[in-house]
Amino acid sequence: MIKKKTIDEIFAAARVDDVIEDYVNLKRRGVNLIGLCPFHNEKTPSFTVSPAKNLYKCFGCGKGGSSINFLMEHENFTYPEALKFLANKYNIKIEEEVQTDEAIEEQKKRDSLLLINGMASEYFQQQLNDTEEGRSIGLSYLKHRGLNERTIKTYNLGYSPRDSKHFTSYAIEKGYNKDLLVELGLTSINGYDFYRERVIFPFHNLSGKVIGFGGRILKDNAKAPKYLNSSESEIYNKRKTLYGLYQARQDIRKQDTCILVEGYTDVLSLHQSEIKNVVASSGTSLTIDQVGLIKRFTPNVIVLYDGDAAGQKAALRGLDIFLEQGLNVTVVILPEGHDPDSYVKELGTSGFTDYIKEKGQDFILRLAHHIQENYQNDPVNKSIQIKELVRSISLISDQIKRSLYVKESALILKMEERTLFREINRNIKSDYNKRKNQRTREAPIPEKYVDFDPDQDHSQGIRAKVDPTQYQERDIIRVLISAGEQWFDEEQEIRIGNYIMANLEGVIDYTRDESFKLIFKEYASASDQGTVLDRQHWTTHENDQIRMIAIDMLSDKYIYADWSKRGLELQTQKPVEENYIKDSYQAVMRFKMKKIIERIEELKKLFASESSDSKDLILITAYQKLLKERQAIADELNMTVI
Ligand code: GTP
Ligand code: MN
Repeated sequence: MIKKKTIDEIFAAARVDDVIEDYVNLKRRGVNLIGLCPFHNEKTPSFTVSPAKNLYKCFGCGKGGSSINFLMEHENFTYPEALKFLANKYNIKIEEEVQTDEAIEEQKKRDSLLLINGMASEYFQQQLNDTEEGRSIGLSYLKHRGLNERTIKTYNLGYSPRDSKHFTSYAIEKGYNKDLLVELGLTSINGYDFYRERVIFPFHNLSGKVIGFGGRILKDNAKAPKYLNSSESEIYNKRKTLYGLYQARQDIRKQDTCILVEGYTDVLSLHQSEIKNVVASSGTSLTIDQVGLIKRFTPNVIVLYDGDAAGQKAALRGLDIFLEQGLNVTVVILPEGHDPDSYVKELGTSGFTDYIKEKGQDFILRLAHHIQENYQNDPVNKSIQIKELVRSISLISDQIKRSLYVKESALILKMEERTLFREINRNIKSDYNKRKNQRTREAPIPEKYVDFDPDQDHSQGIRAKVDPTQYQERDIIRVLISAGEQWFDEEQEIRIGNYIMANLEGVIDYTRDESFKLIFKEYASASDQGTVLDRQHWTTHENDQIRMIAIDMLSDKYIYADWSKRGLELQTQKPVEENYIKDSYQAVMRFKMKKIIERIEELKKLFASESSDSKDLILITAYQKLLKERQAIADELNMTVI
């Protein structure tokens, strides 16, 4: 048990903003700091840290608490572990009431696994640095590859000796549990070491604990795999890990860019060359979780690909995942025969940095150039390639960004923008249908949303079938989702979303459609926080129904139709925005009117059905108030009330 006095000391030192800053990219917003919540997938920051209250709170998922809660949640620490972690961070000496001898037995399994990996990492490092074999074989290999002591230390590189049982014997002698060694993949079932005569690259989690290892063979040998990686365990999930992120995280944040390479050695080499915002995907295609990890620190990614043929291909594929997640991707392909490791050695730091700057080209535009250069005389394949390009563009959920890409790509490919737009619309629709079908398989959707015919003319912006008596609800949701972040009144700093929410106070509860009601509520609470939720928030919403409504409303072709009809192309959105202002005003009025009429009808029924006793004064007053409001709105809208 840690003494109360120590706990108090830790709480006093561990300021919530200081602790969380290591995990979440926080930006100042008024008295608070905000960032993307690490506990749920979000595109608009709702994770709020209040230094004054010394608390954090996510208004998206509801998680909140002190710095200790944060670590318990984020690192899966137990309470005492979180305290110990912080004590260590702030150099606070822990005073315990009872000293526990059997620490390993007492701790949960996860902790034991981390403990074992920590021990193993120490062992491998010690083998590398302090043994004859390690120095002459392992260390000399690393030095030969140009790595210096500091880099080796920063990444805790190690060496596993040739002897087939050396590590396992050592660990068992020290009292570590063999089953757990096997579970971590450090020892085979027969008791042999998994890593033999390899240099060891530990993988760290974001708090610096070792969760797994990669071991590189020393002499390239066709028979044995170049790398052996830890098997997955309770503490290591390769899909959620990026090599080097622990060492790079502060630099990624500072530079607001993350460089993504393929190999472990590329990470080491760039870091040593003072390019420290670098992580490796470890040769596999990137997962959403990994992209999410990057996104916690920056929205900007530079992908560096080796200059071999395979690299070229990979460069132009598999990046859609970044676009889908709303990140900005730049691709740099290195010259033939080079990887980042070899090329930074050749050019030096500033040469390499210049190269990235010069060659760094946006992924989409690069693809467009690639098509234009390589498929000039091959119309069939060119059109296949263009379809691929357009598919990638369709994934970008920010509509303005998407339009700009179409414009640029059309220029590069010497095509008409219209042709590309038509294809994009087709994609968006087919995505919509795909999602719709997926969802029908998963769970039945209320009938009113599935009845969507993509071939119909939806130029009025109404796609999904809604309860016909409730189109006012749908209409206002449409304005909210598609234009909520636009200015209603820029001088007064009122956005359309704020305007709508402020004017709907009190009537939201009468929303009939449950999903619409959810959208209103979520919007209202964000609005209370001073933020407005943008389109992406809704198109990526965790609630299937809401996401579909949003996709539905945003994929209306009238958005494009409007522009081309006006001959405005894509340079300006202004007329559309102006429409939104009028739109939102009318939508609010119509919605209110509808709700008032509904209430009036309800009350009328009540008065008619009940005995005259029930016509109490409160109801009658309410009734009269409603009639007045109805008249007021009718006057505003120049309507006649019958
Ligand atoms: P060097 O050849 O030492 O420069 O290694 P590298 O790290 O640059 O590796 P390479 O470019 O060949 O491969 C990129 C990444 O793919 C590596 O860092 C590994 O993460 C992964 N990889 C390569 N070979 C293997 C393998 O045999 N097994 C596994 N599991 N992963 C591999
Ligand atoms: Mn390499």
